Amino acid sequence: MAEPIRIGVVGMGTVGSGVVRVLEQSASHIERQAGRPIVVEHAVVRDLGKSRSVAVAPERLGTDVVAVSDNPAISVAAMLVGGLEPARTMTIDLLRKGKDVVTANKALLAEHGPELFEVAREAGRSIAFEAAVAGGIPIVAAIAECLAANRIESIRGILNGTSNFILTRMEEDGSNYADVLAIAQAEGYAEADPTMDVDGTDATQKLALLAHLAFGVWVPWKQIPRVGLETIDQELLKFADELGYRVRVVADASRADVTLAMRVGPTLVRKGTPLAETRGAFNAVSVVGDAVGPMFFHGLGAGEMPTASAVVADIIDTVVGRAAITFRTTGVLAAENPAPVSGGGSSPYLLRLQVTDQPGVLAELTGVLGREGISIASVIQHQPAGGSATVPLVIMTHSCGAAAIERAVTAVDRQASVQATTTCLPVLDD
Ligand code: NAP
Ligand code: HSE
Repeated sequence: MAEPIRIGVVGMGTVGSGVVRVLEQSASHIERQAGRPIVVEHAVVRDLGKSRSVAVAPERLGTDVVAVSDNPAISVAAMLVGGLEPARTMTIDLLRKGKDVVTANKALLAEHGPELFEVAREAGRSIAFEAAVAGGIPIVAAIAECLAANRIESIRGILNGTSNFILTRMEEDGSNYADVLAIAQAEGYAEADPTMDVDGTDATQKLALLAHLAFGVWVPWKQIPRVGLETIDQELLKFADELGYRVRVVADASRADVTLAMRVGPTLVRKGTPLAETRGAFNAVSVVGDAVGPMFFHGLGAGEMPTASAVVADIIDTVVGRAAITFRTTGVLAAENPAPVSGGGSSPYLLRLQVTDQPGVLAELTGVLGREGISIASVIQHQPAGGSATVPLVIMTHSCGAAAIERAVTAVDRQASVQATTTCLPVLDD
Protein backbone atom coordinates (compact mmCIF):
# COMPACT_ATOMS: atom_id res chain seq x y z
CA MET A 1 0.00 0.00 0.00
CA ALA A 2 1.27 3.51 -0.87
CA GLU A 3 2.37 5.70 2.03
CA PRO A 4 -0.51 7.88 3.29
CA ILE A 5 -0.53 11.61 2.68
CA ARG A 6 -0.80 13.40 5.99
CA ILE A 7 -2.81 16.63 6.08
CA GLY A 8 -3.57 19.33 8.60
CA VAL A 9 -7.10 20.68 9.02
CA VAL A 10 -6.95 24.25 10.34
CA GLY A 11 -10.47 25.14 11.51
CA MET A 12 -12.98 22.46 12.49
CA GLY A 13 -16.25 24.39 12.23
CA THR A 14 -18.97 23.65 9.67
CA VAL A 15 -16.58 23.12 6.76
CA GLY A 16 -13.63 21.57 8.62
CA SER A 17 -15.91 19.03 10.31
CA GLY A 18 -17.41 18.17 6.92
CA VAL A 19 -13.93 17.63 5.48
CA VAL A 20 -12.99 15.20 8.27
CA ARG A 21 -16.35 13.43 7.84
CA VAL A 22 -15.93 13.00 4.06
CA LEU A 23 -12.32 11.81 4.45
CA GLU A 24 -13.50 9.20 6.96
CA GLN A 25 -16.75 8.14 5.26
CA SER A 26 -15.26 7.82 1.79
CA ALA A 27 -11.72 6.78 2.73
CA SER A 28 -11.36 3.91 0.26
CA HIS A 29 -12.95 5.84 -2.62
CA ILE A 30 -10.68 8.82 -1.91
CA GLU A 31 -7.66 6.53 -1.71
CA ARG A 32 -8.44 5.28 -5.24
CA GLN A 33 -8.85 8.85 -6.50
CA ALA A 34 -5.64 10.08 -4.85
CA GLY A 35 -3.60 6.92 -5.38
CA ARG A 36 -2.86 6.74 -1.65
CA PRO A 37 -4.70 7.14 1.66
CA ILE A 38 -5.29 10.67 2.97
CA VAL A 39 -5.22 10.94 6.76
CA VAL A 40 -5.75 13.86 9.12
CA GLU A 41 -2.54 14.15 11.09
CA HIS A 42 -3.53 17.22 13.09
CA ALA A 43 -6.50 19.57 13.45
CA VAL A 44 -6.48 23.12 14.80
CA VAL A 45 -9.37 24.87 16.58
CA ARG A 46 -9.79 27.94 18.77
CA ASP A 47 -11.63 26.29 21.66
CA LEU A 48 -10.58 22.78 22.72
CA GLY A 49 -13.59 22.53 25.05
CA LYS A 50 -16.21 22.84 22.30
CA SER A 51 -18.17 19.72 21.40
CA ARG A 52 -17.58 18.61 17.78
CA SER A 53 -19.83 16.69 15.40
CA VAL A 54 -16.83 14.57 14.33
CA ALA A 55 -14.27 13.06 16.65
CA VAL A 56 -10.55 13.84 16.43
CA ALA A 57 -8.22 12.05 18.87
CA PRO A 58 -7.16 14.51 21.62
CA GLU A 59 -3.46 14.08 20.77
CA ARG A 60 -4.22 15.21 17.18
CA LEU A 61 -6.19 18.33 18.19
CA GLY A 62 -4.62 21.64 19.24
CA THR A 63 -4.99 25.39 19.12
CA ASP A 64 -1.74 26.39 17.44
CA VAL A 65 -1.30 26.32 13.65
CA VAL A 66 2.42 25.77 14.22
CA ALA A 67 1.59 22.15 15.07
CA VAL A 68 0.68 21.84 11.38
CA SER A 69 3.16 24.23 9.78
CA ASP A 70 6.17 22.84 11.73
CA ASN A 71 5.20 19.20 11.25
CA PRO A 72 7.41 17.76 8.48
CA ALA A 73 5.05 14.79 8.04
CA ILE A 74 2.25 17.12 6.86
CA SER A 75 2.36 18.25 3.24
CA VAL A 76 -1.14 19.73 2.71
CA ALA A 77 -3.14 22.09 4.92
CA ALA A 78 -6.88 22.69 4.60
CA MET A 79 -7.20 26.31 5.84
CA LEU A 80 -10.78 26.53 7.06
CA VAL A 81 -10.65 29.43 9.48
CA GLY A 82 -12.80 32.34 8.25
CA GLY A 83 -12.14 36.09 8.26
CA LEU A 84 -8.93 37.99 7.55
CA GLU A 85 -6.77 37.66 10.64
CA PRO A 86 -5.37 35.39 11.92
CA ALA A 87 -6.31 33.47 8.73
CA ARG A 88 -3.88 35.54 6.59
CA THR A 89 -0.92 35.10 8.96
CA MET A 90 -1.68 31.38 9.36
CA THR A 91 -1.83 30.88 5.58
CA ILE A 92 1.49 32.67 5.04
CA ASP A 93 3.08 30.59 7.80
CA LEU A 94 1.83 27.34 6.24
CA LEU A 95 3.03 28.29 2.73
CA ARG A 96 6.46 29.50 3.86
CA LYS A 97 6.94 26.26 5.79
CA GLY A 98 6.29 24.21 2.66
CA LYS A 99 2.62 23.25 2.88
CA ASP A 100 0.29 23.32 -0.11
CA VAL A 101 -2.88 25.11 0.94
CA VAL A 102 -6.53 24.37 0.17
CA THR A 103 -8.95 27.04 1.37
CA ALA A 104 -12.65 27.96 1.38
CA ASN A 105 -12.00 31.50 2.60
CA LYS A 106 -13.15 33.88 -0.15
CA ALA A 107 -12.95 36.96 2.07
CA LEU A 108 -9.25 36.28 2.59
CA LEU A 109 -8.57 35.71 -1.11
CA ALA A 110 -10.62 38.70 -2.26
CA GLU A 111 -8.76 40.94 0.19
CA HIS A 112 -5.24 39.47 0.20
CA GLY A 113 -5.21 37.12 -2.82
CA PRO A 114 -2.34 38.73 -4.74
CA GLU A 115 -0.10 38.74 -1.64
CA LEU A 116 -0.91 35.12 -0.71
CA PHE A 117 -0.45 33.86 -4.25
CA GLU A 118 2.91 35.62 -4.45
CA VAL A 119 3.99 33.99 -1.18
CA ALA A 120 2.89 30.60 -2.58
CA ARG A 121 4.85 31.15 -5.80
CA GLU A 122 7.99 32.18 -3.91
CA ALA A 123 7.65 29.08 -1.71
CA GLY A 124 6.97 26.80 -4.70
CA ARG A 125 3.60 25.81 -3.23
CA SER A 126 0.01 25.93 -4.54
CA ILE A 127 -3.25 27.38 -3.26
CA ALA A 128 -6.51 25.70 -4.36
CA PHE A 129 -9.83 27.41 -3.64
CA GLU A 130 -12.73 25.64 -5.33
CA ALA A 131 -14.79 25.80 -2.12
CA ALA A 132 -14.39 29.57 -1.89
CA VAL A 133 -16.97 30.20 -4.65
CA ALA A 134 -20.43 28.62 -4.90
CA GLY A 135 -19.80 25.81 -2.38
CA GLY A 136 -20.13 22.43 -4.05
CA ILE A 137 -20.41 23.74 -7.63
CA PRO A 138 -17.07 23.18 -9.43
CA ILE A 139 -17.12 26.64 -11.00
CA VAL A 140 -13.47 27.51 -10.34
CA ALA A 141 -12.26 24.39 -12.17
CA ALA A 142 -14.83 24.95 -14.91
CA ILE A 143 -13.61 28.48 -15.66
CA ALA A 144 -9.89 27.98 -14.97
CA GLU A 145 -9.55 24.62 -16.73
CA CYS A 146 -12.53 23.24 -18.62
CA LEU A 147 -13.47 26.50 -20.37
CA ALA A 148 -9.85 27.57 -20.95
CA ALA A 149 -10.40 27.65 -24.73
CA ASN A 150 -13.03 30.36 -24.39
CA ARG A 151 -12.99 34.11 -24.17
CA ILE A 152 -15.54 34.48 -21.37
CA GLU A 153 -18.12 37.15 -22.21
CA SER A 154 -20.15 37.16 -19.01
CA ILE A 155 -20.78 35.52 -15.65
CA ARG A 156 -24.09 35.84 -13.86
CA GLY A 157 -25.18 33.99 -10.78
CA ILE A 158 -26.59 33.51 -7.34
CA LEU A 159 -23.46 33.18 -5.21
CA ASN A 160 -24.70 33.42 -1.64
CA GLY A 161 -26.68 30.54 -0.18
CA THR A 162 -27.77 32.35 2.97
CA SER A 163 -29.45 35.28 1.21
CA ASN A 164 -31.07 32.94 -1.32
CA PHE A 165 -32.36 30.78 1.53
CA ILE A 166 -33.80 33.87 3.23
CA LEU A 167 -35.45 35.22 0.07
CA THR A 168 -37.04 31.94 -0.93
CA ARG A 169 -38.41 31.26 2.56
CA MET A 170 -39.81 34.81 2.75
CA GLU A 171 -41.45 34.39 -0.65
CA GLU A 172 -42.70 30.81 -0.17
CA ASP A 173 -44.24 30.92 3.28
CA GLY A 174 -44.16 34.59 4.24
CA SER A 175 -41.45 33.91 6.87
CA ASN A 176 -39.99 36.80 8.76
CA TYR A 177 -36.46 37.88 7.74
CA ALA A 178 -34.88 37.54 11.21
CA ASP A 179 -36.39 34.08 11.82
CA VAL A 180 -35.10 32.70 8.52
CA LEU A 181 -31.65 34.19 9.05
CA ALA A 182 -31.50 32.34 12.39
CA ILE A 183 -32.33 29.06 10.57
CA ALA A 184 -29.61 29.73 7.96
CA GLN A 185 -27.13 30.25 10.78
CA ALA A 186 -28.20 27.04 12.52
CA GLU A 187 -27.83 25.12 9.23
CA GLY A 188 -24.22 26.36 8.93
CA TYR A 189 -24.82 28.38 5.74
CA ALA A 190 -24.06 31.83 7.14
CA GLU A 191 -20.68 33.44 7.76
CA ALA A 192 -19.54 33.90 11.38
CA ASP A 193 -20.67 37.51 10.82
CA PRO A 194 -23.89 37.09 8.76
CA THR A 195 -23.79 40.76 7.78
CA MET A 196 -21.37 39.61 5.06
CA ASP A 197 -24.12 37.40 3.62
CA VAL A 198 -27.04 39.80 3.76
CA ASP A 199 -25.27 43.01 2.72
CA GLY A 200 -23.90 41.39 -0.45
CA THR A 201 -20.23 41.39 0.65
CA ASP A 202 -19.83 37.61 0.39
CA ALA A 203 -21.33 37.41 -3.12
CA THR A 204 -19.25 40.41 -4.21
CA GLN A 205 -16.01 38.82 -3.00
CA LYS A 206 -16.91 35.62 -4.87
CA LEU A 207 -17.72 37.60 -8.02
CA ALA A 208 -14.31 39.33 -7.80
CA LEU A 209 -12.60 35.91 -7.71
CA LEU A 210 -14.64 34.58 -10.64
CA ALA A 211 -13.98 37.76 -12.63
CA HIS A 212 -10.29 37.30 -12.09
CA LEU A 213 -10.39 33.73 -13.40
CA ALA A 214 -12.70 34.60 -16.28
CA PHE A 215 -11.32 37.94 -17.43
CA GLY A 216 -7.71 37.72 -16.22
CA VAL A 217 -7.80 40.96 -14.24
CA TRP A 218 -7.73 41.66 -10.55
CA VAL A 219 -10.86 43.48 -9.39
CA PRO A 220 -10.70 45.02 -5.91
CA TRP A 221 -14.05 43.76 -4.57
CA LYS A 222 -14.91 47.06 -2.88
CA GLN A 223 -15.10 48.72 -6.32
CA ILE A 224 -17.99 46.50 -7.37
CA PRO A 225 -21.37 48.23 -6.87
CA ARG A 226 -23.20 46.23 -4.20
CA VAL A 227 -26.70 46.35 -2.71
CA GLY A 228 -27.85 44.18 0.19
CA LEU A 229 -31.13 42.61 1.20
CA GLU A 230 -32.12 45.50 3.46
CA THR A 231 -34.58 46.98 0.93
CA ILE A 232 -36.47 43.70 0.46
CA ASP A 233 -39.72 43.22 2.35
CA GLN A 234 -42.95 41.23 1.92
CA GLU A 235 -44.64 44.09 0.05
CA LEU A 236 -41.90 44.13 -2.59
CA LEU A 237 -41.94 40.33 -2.95
CA LYS A 238 -45.73 40.45 -3.50
CA PHE A 239 -45.44 43.14 -6.19
CA ALA A 240 -42.71 41.07 -7.89
CA ASP A 241 -44.97 38.01 -7.79
CA GLU A 242 -47.90 39.98 -9.24
CA LEU A 243 -45.70 41.06 -12.15
CA GLY A 244 -44.47 37.48 -12.78
CA TYR A 245 -41.05 37.71 -11.08
CA ARG A 246 -39.07 36.51 -8.09
CA VAL A 247 -36.38 38.47 -6.25
CA ARG A 248 -32.87 36.99 -6.19
CA VAL A 249 -29.49 38.47 -5.23
CA VAL A 250 -27.73 38.33 -8.59
CA ALA A 251 -24.01 38.85 -9.15
CA ASP A 252 -23.25 40.02 -12.65
CA ALA A 253 -20.02 40.63 -14.56
CA SER A 254 -19.67 41.19 -18.28
CA ARG A 255 -17.28 42.77 -20.73
CA ALA A 256 -18.28 46.34 -21.64
CA ASP A 257 -15.87 48.21 -23.96
CA VAL A 258 -12.75 48.86 -21.87
CA THR A 259 -14.40 48.22 -18.50
CA LEU A 260 -16.09 45.34 -16.77
CA ALA A 261 -19.76 46.00 -16.02
CA MET A 262 -20.26 44.49 -12.57
CA ARG A 263 -22.86 44.65 -9.85
CA VAL A 264 -24.30 42.57 -7.02
CA GLY A 265 -27.76 43.08 -5.61
CA PRO A 266 -31.43 42.13 -5.43
CA THR A 267 -32.81 41.69 -8.93
CA LEU A 268 -36.20 40.74 -10.40
CA VAL A 269 -35.86 37.47 -12.30
CA ARG A 270 -38.72 36.18 -14.42
CA LYS A 271 -40.53 33.15 -12.94
CA GLY A 272 -39.62 29.94 -14.73
CA THR A 273 -36.09 31.05 -15.62
CA PRO A 274 -33.20 29.06 -14.05
CA LEU A 275 -32.22 31.86 -11.66
CA ALA A 276 -35.82 32.27 -10.44
CA GLU A 277 -36.05 28.51 -9.82
CA THR A 278 -32.80 28.49 -7.78
CA ARG A 279 -34.12 28.05 -4.25
CA GLY A 280 -32.91 27.67 -0.68
CA ALA A 281 -29.16 27.34 -0.18
CA PHE A 282 -28.67 26.47 -3.84
CA ASN A 283 -26.38 28.63 -5.97
CA ALA A 284 -26.41 29.01 -9.73
CA VAL A 285 -23.88 30.37 -12.20
CA SER A 286 -24.36 31.01 -15.88
CA VAL A 287 -21.24 31.56 -17.96
CA VAL A 288 -21.13 32.59 -21.61
CA GLY A 289 -17.99 31.62 -23.54
CA ASP A 290 -17.35 32.56 -27.15
CA ALA A 291 -16.83 28.96 -28.28
CA VAL A 292 -19.04 26.98 -25.91
CA GLY A 293 -21.93 29.47 -25.75
CA PRO A 294 -24.10 29.68 -22.62
CA MET A 295 -23.54 27.19 -19.78
CA PHE A 296 -25.47 26.85 -16.54
CA PHE A 297 -24.27 25.38 -13.22
CA HIS A 298 -26.59 24.68 -10.29
CA GLY A 299 -25.96 23.08 -6.90
CA LEU A 300 -25.74 23.63 -3.16
CA GLY A 301 -23.63 26.71 -2.50
CA ALA A 302 -23.29 26.45 1.27
CA GLY A 303 -23.41 23.92 4.08
CA GLU A 304 -21.15 21.28 5.56
CA MET A 305 -21.10 18.46 3.02
CA PRO A 306 -21.39 20.37 -0.30
CA THR A 307 -18.52 22.62 0.76
CA ALA A 308 -16.50 19.67 2.05
CA SER A 309 -17.00 18.03 -1.35
CA ALA A 310 -15.12 20.91 -2.98
CA VAL A 311 -12.40 21.06 -0.30
CA VAL A 312 -11.70 17.32 -0.47
CA ALA A 313 -11.61 17.42 -4.29
CA ASP A 314 -8.98 20.17 -3.98
CA ILE A 315 -7.01 18.06 -1.48
CA ILE A 316 -7.05 15.15 -3.96
CA ASP A 317 -6.01 17.51 -6.78
CA THR A 318 -3.15 18.73 -4.61
CA VAL A 319 -2.03 15.21 -3.73
CA VAL A 320 -1.96 14.03 -7.36
CA GLY A 321 -0.30 17.24 -8.58
CA ARG A 322 -3.21 18.72 -10.58
CA ALA A 323 -3.53 21.74 -8.26
CA ALA A 324 0.12 22.69 -8.80
CA ILE A 325 -0.32 22.56 -12.59
CA THR A 326 -3.50 24.69 -12.48
CA PHE A 327 -1.87 27.13 -10.10
CA ARG A 328 1.16 27.51 -12.37
CA THR A 329 -0.58 27.55 -15.76
CA THR A 330 -3.45 29.86 -14.93
CA GLY A 331 -1.20 32.35 -13.12
CA VAL A 332 -4.04 32.89 -10.67
CA LEU A 333 -4.17 36.24 -8.95
CA ALA A 334 -0.94 37.35 -10.59
CA ALA A 335 -2.42 40.44 -12.27
CA GLU A 336 -1.40 43.64 -10.52
CA ASN A 337 -3.36 46.23 -12.46
CA PRO A 338 -6.93 46.61 -11.25
CA ALA A 339 -9.58 46.44 -13.96
CA PRO A 340 -11.75 49.53 -14.35
CA VAL A 341 -15.24 48.64 -13.16
CA SER A 342 -18.50 50.28 -14.25
CA GLY A 343 -21.97 49.66 -12.77
CA GLY A 344 -24.50 47.23 -14.21
CA GLY A 345 -25.49 47.38 -17.87
CA SER A 346 -28.84 48.39 -19.38
CA SER A 347 -32.02 46.63 -18.28
CA PRO A 348 -35.61 47.37 -17.34
CA TYR A 349 -36.00 48.48 -13.71
CA LEU A 350 -38.70 48.16 -11.09
CA LEU A 351 -39.19 51.20 -8.87
CA ARG A 352 -41.21 50.97 -5.66
CA LEU A 353 -42.09 54.44 -4.37
CA GLN A 354 -44.07 55.46 -1.30
CA VAL A 355 -46.10 58.48 -2.39
CA THR A 356 -48.91 60.68 -1.16
CA ASP A 357 -52.18 59.59 -2.73
CA GLN A 358 -53.30 62.79 -4.43
CA PRO A 359 -53.98 64.14 -7.95
CA GLY A 360 -51.01 64.97 -10.17
CA VAL A 361 -48.42 62.80 -8.35
CA LEU A 362 -48.14 60.16 -11.08
CA ALA A 363 -47.76 62.82 -13.80
CA GLU A 364 -45.08 64.61 -11.77
CA LEU A 365 -43.07 61.40 -11.23
CA THR A 366 -43.33 60.14 -14.79
CA GLY A 367 -42.17 63.61 -15.86
CA VAL A 368 -39.03 63.20 -13.72
CA LEU A 369 -38.31 59.82 -15.31
CA GLY A 370 -39.04 61.23 -18.77
CA ARG A 371 -36.44 63.96 -18.31
CA GLU A 372 -33.82 61.17 -17.92
CA GLY A 373 -35.13 59.54 -21.11
CA ILE A 374 -36.71 56.67 -19.12
CA SER A 375 -39.84 55.21 -20.63
CA ILE A 376 -42.48 53.49 -18.48
CA ALA A 377 -43.72 49.99 -19.31
CA SER A 378 -46.35 49.55 -16.57
CA VAL A 379 -47.60 51.01 -13.29
CA ILE A 380 -49.31 49.36 -10.29
CA GLN A 381 -51.06 51.23 -7.53
CA HIS A 382 -53.50 49.52 -5.16
CA GLN A 383 -55.99 51.13 -2.82
CA PRO A 384 -54.16 52.46 0.27
CA ALA A 385 -54.58 50.18 3.29
CA GLY A 386 -56.85 51.48 6.06
CA GLY A 387 -57.26 54.90 4.49
CA SER A 388 -53.52 55.67 4.69
CA ALA A 389 -52.49 58.91 2.94
CA THR A 390 -49.34 57.18 1.64
CA VAL A 391 -49.50 54.46 -0.96
CA PRO A 392 -46.93 52.23 -2.66
CA LEU A 393 -46.55 52.98 -6.36
CA VAL A 394 -44.72 50.45 -8.50
CA ILE A 395 -43.32 51.49 -11.87
CA MET A 396 -41.76 49.06 -14.34
CA THR A 397 -39.55 50.86 -16.85
CA HIS A 398 -38.40 49.88 -20.31
CA SER A 399 -34.68 49.13 -20.64
CA CYS A 400 -32.40 52.00 -19.62
CA GLY A 401 -28.84 52.57 -18.43
CA ALA A 402 -27.73 52.16 -14.80
CA ALA A 403 -26.48 55.76 -14.59
CA ALA A 404 -29.77 57.18 -15.94
CA ILE A 405 -31.93 55.25 -13.48
CA GLU A 406 -29.65 56.24 -10.60
CA ARG A 407 -30.01 59.94 -11.51
CA ALA A 408 -33.76 59.52 -11.94
CA VAL A 409 -34.20 57.86 -8.52
CA THR A 410 -32.20 60.64 -6.86
CA ALA A 411 -34.48 63.21 -8.53
CA VAL A 412 -37.65 61.25 -7.69
CA ASP A 413 -36.68 61.07 -4.02
CA ARG A 414 -36.41 64.87 -3.92
CA GLN A 415 -40.10 65.30 -4.84
CA ALA A 416 -42.36 66.43 -2.00
CA SER A 417 -44.87 63.67 -2.84
CA VAL A 418 -42.29 60.91 -2.22
CA GLN A 419 -42.38 59.87 1.42
CA ALA A 420 -39.60 57.27 1.67
CA THR A 421 -36.44 56.21 -0.15
CA THR A 422 -37.36 54.58 -3.46
CA THR A 423 -36.40 50.95 -4.00
CA CYS A 424 -34.90 50.29 -7.42
CA LEU A 425 -34.23 46.77 -8.75
CA PRO A 426 -32.94 45.74 -12.17
CA VAL A 427 -35.08 43.23 -14.05
CA LEU A 428 -33.87 40.12 -15.91
CA ASP A 429 -36.23 38.44 -18.35
CA ASP A 430 -34.00 35.53 -19.43
P1 NAP B 1 -16.96 28.21 11.36
O1 NAP B 1 -18.02 27.20 11.50
O2 NAP B 1 -17.07 29.49 12.09
O3 NAP B 1 -15.57 27.48 11.74
C1 NAP B 1 -14.37 28.18 11.84
C2 NAP B 1 -13.35 27.28 12.53
O4 NAP B 1 -12.13 28.01 12.68
C3 NAP B 1 -13.77 26.84 13.93
O5 NAP B 1 -13.45 25.49 14.13
C4 NAP B 1 -12.92 27.73 14.85
O6 NAP B 1 -12.57 27.09 16.07
C5 NAP B 1 -11.67 27.88 14.02
N1 NAP B 1 -10.94 29.08 14.37
C6 NAP B 1 -11.37 30.37 14.34
N2 NAP B 1 -10.39 31.19 14.76
C7 NAP B 1 -9.33 30.42 15.07
C8 NAP B 1 -8.04 30.66 15.58
N3 NAP B 1 -7.65 31.91 15.85
N4 NAP B 1 -7.20 29.61 15.77
C9 NAP B 1 -7.60 28.34 15.51
N5 NAP B 1 -8.83 28.04 15.01
C10 NAP B 1 -9.68 29.06 14.82
O7 NAP B 1 -16.76 28.58 9.83
P2 NAP B 1 -17.13 27.71 8.55
O8 NAP B 1 -18.56 27.93 8.22
O9 NAP B 1 -16.63 26.34 8.70
O10 NAP B 1 -16.31 28.51 7.43
C11 NAP B 1 -14.92 28.37 7.31
C12 NAP B 1 -14.47 29.08 6.03
O11 NAP B 1 -15.12 28.47 4.92
C13 NAP B 1 -14.86 30.56 5.98
O12 NAP B 1 -13.87 31.26 5.31
C14 NAP B 1 -16.15 30.55 5.15
O13 NAP B 1 -16.35 31.76 4.45
C15 NAP B 1 -15.86 29.43 4.19
N6 NAP B 1 -17.03 28.78 3.62
C16 NAP B 1 -18.05 28.39 4.43
C17 NAP B 1 -19.13 27.71 3.88
C18 NAP B 1 -20.28 27.24 4.71
O14 NAP B 1 -21.29 26.80 4.13
N7 NAP B 1 -20.21 27.33 6.03
C19 NAP B 1 -19.17 27.45 2.50
C20 NAP B 1 -18.10 27.87 1.70
C21 NAP B 1 -17.04 28.54 2.28
P3 NAP B 1 -13.70 26.72 17.17
O15 NAP B 1 -14.52 25.63 16.52
O16 NAP B 1 -12.94 26.23 18.33
O17 NAP B 1 -14.48 27.97 17.40
N1 HSE C 1 -22.01 32.10 3.80
C1 HSE C 1 -21.83 31.58 2.49
C2 HSE C 1 -23.16 31.48 1.81
C3 HSE C 1 -21.18 30.24 2.57
O1 HSE C 1 -24.19 31.58 2.47
O2 HSE C 1 -23.19 31.31 0.59
C4 HSE C 1 -20.75 29.71 1.23
O3 HSE C 1 -19.68 30.45 0.73
